[in-house]
Amino acid sequence: MKDDASAVMTTPPSDAFRIVDVPDPFKELAARRGAEGTFVGTDEAESPWIPFGDNAAIRHLAFDVRNNIFSNVLWIKKPGVIGTHYHRGQIVMICLEGSARYLEYDWVATPGAFIQEAPGEAHTLVTDHPQGTKLFGWMQGAIDFYDEDANFSFTADVWWFMNHYETYCKENGLEINEQLYI
Ligand SMILES: [Fe+2]
Repeated sequence: MKDDASAVMTTPPSDAFRIVDVPDPFKELAARRGAEGTFVGTDEAESPWIPFGDNAAIRHLAFDVRNNIFSNVLWIKKPGVIGTHYHRGQIVMICLEGSARYLEYDWVATPGAFIQEAPGEAHTLVTDHPQGTKLFGWMQGAIDFYDEDANFSFTADVWWFMNHYETYCKENGLEINEQLYI
């Protein structure tokens, strides 16, 4: 008889390179009421780089209006600043290229680094890297932007990001990619 410790899984039980039809008691219900996953490939036809100020662009990946969640890659093209902002939700980011940091903290994010931000944080995103940075973000809740004198400027939430995407598509005759709406 196995003891408790040996019953703990340490690796996935199968390495078969094939689809396994798992028993699912709610298969019909999930097919009827469930939501499908989405996929956005690397081609700009699937989601274009859209200017965000003079030195940055955003590639939108997902909009979830029920949870005020939005996902994108932020590209800061050369050394520069993304204005001071205040978070009302949680942010997770991974640095993909270059490097990024906040003036308020002492760390520097390089490719592969993971960043988590919490509601109530205000900070100023910068990159000192000659090639700037690319940051993948999965973000929830409003982000309030302020100018250099701490005057409120605008709120970026799921509606702001969706409008940023749709306005650009409309102005450039691009089709809306339904895969972005989760
Ligand atoms: Fe932030």
